[in-house]
Amino acid sequence: LRERPYTVHIGTQLLDKVGEIGCGALSQPAKRAFLIADTGVPASARNLVADSLTEQGLATSRANVTPSEGVKTVATWQRLLTELAQSRHERSDPIIALGGGIVGDLAGFAAAAYRRGVPAIQCPTTLLAMVDASVGGKTGVNLDLAGEGLQKNMVGAFWQPAAVIADISVLSSLPARELRAGFAECLKHALIGQAVGDPGLLEWTRTNLAKSLTLNPQVLVELVGRNVKAKAGIVCQDEREEATDAEGGRALLNLGHTYAHAMETLEGLSLLGSPCSLLHGEAVGLGLIAAAACSEALGLAPAGLASDVKSMVAEAGLPTAVQGLPTNDALLGRMSHDKKARGGSPRLVLPTGDGDARVVADPPTSAVVAGWSSIRA
Ligand SMILES: NC(=O)c1ccc[n+]([C@@H]2O[C@H](COP(=O)([O-])OP(=O)(O)OC[C@H]3O[C@@H](n4cnc5c(N)ncnc54)[C@H](O)[C@@H]3O)[C@@H](O)[C@H]2O)c1
Repeated sequence: LRERPYTVHIGTQLLDKVGEIGCGALSQPAKRAFLIADTGVPASARNLVADSLTEQGLATSRANVTPSEGVKTVATWQRLLTELAQSRHERSDPIIALGGGIVGDLAGFAAAAYRRGVPAIQCPTTLLAMVDASVGGKTGVNLDLAGEGLQKNMVGAFWQPAAVIADISVLSSLPARELRAGFAECLKHALIGQAVGDPGLLEWTRTNLAKSLTLNPQVLVELVGRNVKAKAGIVCQDEREEATDAEGGRALLNLGHTYAHAMETLEGLSLLGSPCSLLHGEAVGLGLIAAAACSEALGLAPAGLASDVKSMVAEAGLPTAVQGLPTNDALLGRMSHDKKARGGSPRLVLPTGDGDARVVADPPTSAVVAGWSSIRA
């Protein structure tokens, strides 16, 4: 980004350098640091980061967050703001987000708002946060609408980090289900490989899937690097998602997400007969299949795309169907609440099967429903 450039550091053994890298990325010297840490990250890794900040002479305060979509709320954000003020955090002092996408979104939004903006250093610790959430500056929280449940990412701000530090060694403690969930965002980027300037990304991702799942460090560094590059290329051209529907722009990165957001906070869902709530990445994987089916129904994609996408999602070990979805009317109602909707009609990003996607405003209901039918178990 021309006005707010930052470096994304990707590698191993980086957590004990967060203090040094973070301080080097600040435009003014800092006295304090505020570490917002995900309690899922092993304590040893959290301490490494805290110690690296102290070693730089920063008086370091800490707040822990145990993430869930129900915790990614205005109330938690307010708690963090209060703790920041109580720690005497000043304008030039950085907030360090150490965790998955939920902690990154919450901490980033706290950084955007506290004293009208303090530097954020994003240290993603899930694959999903490394390949997607930590980069690009979208921050925010969910809004709980009485009777309608959580509305995803309804409140937030664009706030670019001062630096991103992705230490792939920390992925070794990530549960396998969470690791696979991260692949959904990789598949999303790969399906629009042409649009993101990496047409070979889909084939490379599929070929290297097994090595990625066994945490081969070289493959993971390349996986994270190529995905960050793909996202950065789009964000640089359209940071605030202001491109027209015809241009596409940053909205293309929402591929699969209107379907995903409509289902991911629903209760009463089951996977393979077992009741459970969906992880964000799992909902995105299902959303990619549904978007492909919708695109086929509209004649925007060749027949067979939805079945191909389903195979890719299955190869990544992600669910390809879900039980317990509510009625189509209820789902359409939830989609019309999506923050990208206009005039109460959803705007969908639909893959065209040639490495690209199109933004479609107000798609016919029958095509949207074809998407839902493709993932109902
Ligand atoms: N801002 C953006 O551009 C953007 C993009 C994509 C997704 N998101 C958001 O990101 C969120 C999903 O992020 P996520 O998939 O990282 O989920 P998450 O933040 O819920 O983390 C997943 C789980 O892994 C645990 N965890 C994190 N790091 C760990 C580690 N190294 N070892 C062991 N456990 C660890 C967490 O405690 C949590 O239980 C959603 O809220 C989504 O809306 C934001």
